[in-house]
Amino acid sequence: MTTETQFDLVVIGSGPGGYVAAIRAAQLGMKVACVEMRKTLGGTCLNVGCIPSKALLVASEKFEEASHSLGNFGVKVSGVELDLPTMMKHKEKTVESNVTGVEFLFKKNKITRFTGKGSIAAPGQVTVTKEDGSTETVTAKNILIATGSDVMPLPGVTIDEKRIVSSTGALDLTEVPKRLVVIGGGVIGLELGSVWQRLGAQVTVVEFLDRILPGMDGEVSKQSQRILGKQGLTFKLSTKVTSAVAADTGVTLTVEPAAGGTAETIEADVVLVAIGRRPYTEGLGLDKVGVELDERKRVKTDHHFRTNVPGIWAIGDVIAGAMLAHKAEEEGVVCAEVMAGQSGHINYDAIPGVVYTWPEIAAVGKTEEQLKAEGVAYKVGKFPFTANGRARSMQATEGFVKLLADAHSDKLLGAHIIGASAGEMIEELALALEFGASSEDIARTSHAHPTLTEAIKEAALGVLGRTIHM
Ligand code: FAD
Ligand code: NAI
Repeated sequence: MTTETQFDLVVIGSGPGGYVAAIRAAQLGMKVACVEMRKTLGGTCLNVGCIPSKALLVASEKFEEASHSLGNFGVKVSGVELDLPTMMKHKEKTVESNVTGVEFLFKKNKITRFTGKGSIAAPGQVTVTKEDGSTETVTAKNILIATGSDVMPLPGVTIDEKRIVSSTGALDLTEVPKRLVVIGGGVIGLELGSVWQRLGAQVTVVEFLDRILPGMDGEVSKQSQRILGKQGLTFKLSTKVTSAVAADTGVTLTVEPAAGGTAETIEADVVLVAIGRRPYTEGLGLDKVGVELDERKRVKTDHHFRTNVPGIWAIGDVIAGAMLAHKAEEEGVVCAEVMAGQSGHINYDAIPGVVYTWPEIAAVGKTEEQLKAEGVAYKVGKFPFTANGRARSMQATEGFVKLLADAHSDKLLGAHIIGASAGEMIEELALALEFGASSEDIARTSHAHPTLTEAIKEAALGVLGRTIHM
């Protein structure tokens, strides 16, 4: 069956990239359809990613506080108990309210939703295959691929979502595992490892490289490992997993040094595989229409998200760049604007990244390692939260603010924060980068007292060699 309506745009995928592109295109006067194979809108992020993981991070942090730290503030709590089903209900309710929010936005913007798997039959034609096997053809001037990403599998380790889980299974465990082994010391490994560690699991993180959070500034990843280690996470770095055998009672992992050497076994109740994600293009029919992929099987686009086939565009996790929801959203907006004949631009250097552990770890712009590799002369300003009044009042003195500025022009090049609310604070520095601010600009901006953001001002003063409170 062919849908009578001719759309201006059909978006395949309703994640943060797809749904935001659909809304922006509708705002610009386009007639928009969106094809989503999940029952609910919002993609990985809202259903099994950003939102449920943050709901569990917040809830487990409260459990941890009630169990261990509230007493230090003179708040006596006794008989603290974990009610995991209620915690999971909190997660489910949070997800539900977010995905129905997107449904509301689709209605408000008159976006037509098709439920089923989309494949591109030809430029301008998307076939939607529904659950019952029936198909429908949707025609549109433009097609936007926003199909996101999926879990990267690890050879020798079969994910069954019970004993050996991906992030999706790790968000849905029905009991706290005694021993959780996380394969991959990246963002998912540390966030979900933290959740289960706080709830009582003994967590071991097995990382192939010699450091956790390999994309982050070296000093930040070292300090993060130290802080998380103090909380009870164990790290096995420079180690590779060669097999994982699941039985009813648990999983036996075989690991060996990444460079080769003697193998050993580790017993676990649950294993979380978190070694990255790969673009999801399965069943889209890209080879049939001739859409080119790059060497990592990501859809290849130009700076304005056009693929090599006229009228077919792509954004988000399925193309090159950081796999982040807000990066996908920015691309969705710019892509819709370019489609409508406007100009658009994204400054990829000003896209922040946040790891929602305790304390949070946040970054924007260049790392010291990148500046060294690029041969850029830079200055460093650093300020620890131990010297910040608000952090002391919160008993949250772990971490620091580190700013990197051009040695000649003083222009901010990178910012890195480990600390309470680092994810909120980093926005000031993203804005500073976007506006081309110098560390002097930040240092001369009044920061309310007492706030954690004063550490940013002090770090900026540090770049100039005139910190006040240290
Ligand atoms: P997705 O959100 O993956 O959406 C793609 C959608 O397309 C999916 O709903 C899929 O069902 C649908 N689809 C795919 N193929 C088809 C087809 N052929 N037909 C119809 N529909 C199709 N990022 C952050 O910025 N902050 C975080 O805190 C964060 N936390 C995360 C936690 C976890 C556990 C995970 C796994 C990821 C997290 N991310 C986070 C990453 C974030 O989820 C992604 O970067 C983001 O979802 C990418 O958006 P997208 O629109 O490109 O794709
Ligand atoms: P990641 O790329 O962050 O980390 C993967 C880690 O696994 C790396 O440290 C890597 O060196 C290691 N690794 C790779 N192969 C390995 C192997 N064979 N054995 C052991 N270690 C191995 O990927 P992750 O954590 O799976 O997350 C996927 C994506 O989701 C990321 O790109 C991230 O941006 C996004 N995400 C973002 C979040 C946020 O913004 N807060 C939260 C969760 C996910």
